Amino acid sequence: MKPHGLTRRQFIAAASASSLAAVAAKSLPAYGDVTRKAGKLAILGGEPVRKNKAWPDWPHVDDQIVDAVVKTTKSGIWCRIQSETGTVPTFEKEFAKLMGTKFCVATGSGTQALHTCVEALGIGPGDEVITSPYTDPGTIMAILASRALPVLADLDPESYQLDPADVERRITENTRAIMPVHMMGQPCHLERIMAIARKHRLPVIEDAAQAHLAEYQGKKLGTIAPLGCFSFQTSKTIACGEGGAIMGSDEELMDKCYTVHNHGTSRKGRTEVIGPKYRMNEFEAAVLLAQLAGAQERFRRRNENAAYLTARLKGCPGLVPQKLYEGTASGSFYLYSMTYRKEHFNNADRSRFLKAIAAEGVGLSPYIERGLHREPWVENVLKLKVYQKMFSPQRLQQYRDELSCPKCDQVCQEMAMIWASGPLVGTRQDMDDIADAILKVYENRDQLAAI
Ligand SMILES: Cc1ncc(COP(=O)(O)O)c(C=O)c1O
Repeated sequence: MKPHGLTRRQFIAAASASSLAAVAAKSLPAYGDVTRKAGKLAILGGEPVRKNKAWPDWPHVDDQIVDAVVKTTKSGIWCRIQSETGTVPTFEKEFAKLMGTKFCVATGSGTQALHTCVEALGIGPGDEVITSPYTDPGTIMAILASRALPVLADLDPESYQLDPADVERRITENTRAIMPVHMMGQPCHLERIMAIARKHRLPVIEDAAQAHLAEYQGKKLGTIAPLGCFSFQTSKTIACGEGGAIMGSDEELMDKCYTVHNHGTSRKGRTEVIGPKYRMNEFEAAVLLAQLAGAQERFRRRNENAAYLTARLKGCPGLVPQKLYEGTASGSFYLYSMTYRKEHFNNADRSRFLKAIAAEGVGLSPYIERGLHREPWVENVLKLKVYQKMFSPQRLQQYRDELSCPKCDQVCQEMAMIWASGPLVGTRQDMDDIADAILKVYENRDQLAAI
């Protein structure tokens, strides 16, 4: 693949040097041109940057998808166990091939995929898994569903990803796995996390729920650790309403995942272990199969547009795009996210900035407003009999005492993002509208106090 008209090597070098922005520097409107025509803020009665223009629709729907669902409906093959050549087994083969790994087990959601991995690794009551507080609840529910304890490590506030040093600091004698999350669809610092895992002999389950097709150090996210999981929930860049997948190249481990997700029943038909019923159905797989080709083109466009947007925002110190780690060749750009630095916006708080941007016809919003360490599940779970039995009172007290994640709190307060599955597939003009709106508000930052 040549993501930006550069060779793969040039692209990786450019991305690694600072960010993907380096590859989009061609044909940028000069910063001065934009600010000169910035004009009065729309929220104060000026002309909006963007008027009456729709963004690309999401989820993506086309005739191929509709035809695939009709065909599956008429076939009467609605459940994966009816046929070895049905849409679910076919999707598993095709997706594994596309991702460059050997095996895939499709599930009914990303949460189900993650929970299946936790069970397949034999993790249960009394065990601990280290993960991020800055994620979808599904990540920690996959751990709690096995009655294990999710231990939440703090973030790198510039990348919004797990801080590997804090991950290592939180390892105890009960730690059984690390579950890093690739937030926004861009890679976490997987190289360091894998090294920590090797040092402590811990398996890694990649939560790549948002990270379809993204590449890091020459491999697709979700295929680097022994197990990786995806979500195909509607908002995702490859979607079927609700769906998920487990990826891996270790046949024995992947067979265990199959058995767990198939109500504990192996491919040979023997009921062997505790297992929920998490099978993907044939309609979901039909929708996914029909969009795989288009998804790759949309992924390419989002990367191109993200790089362009990042390059255009270089003139605005008040909005700093998500930091990408060395080795990032591409991201899924499920979200395009930025840190709002109010000190560069005349100390206006984020909500004023977001109101002003919305009036310009461009929607930016906060993402996760509270880290999972601040949600009521913590006390509710620690009070449960199984947790009181399986963890010592000292461990549970230490868990409460060490729950704070100040960098995650900071990210929750500073983040401004665009839901990118649809908008980032747009045209260069769409990207210019986003950048122009941001730069216009920046240029008028002394007006924000009046909003
Ligand atoms: C990072 C992350 N992990 C896990 C999940 C759970 O996936 P699902 O909603 O398919 O269960 C999601 C879904 O939004 C997610 O974004």
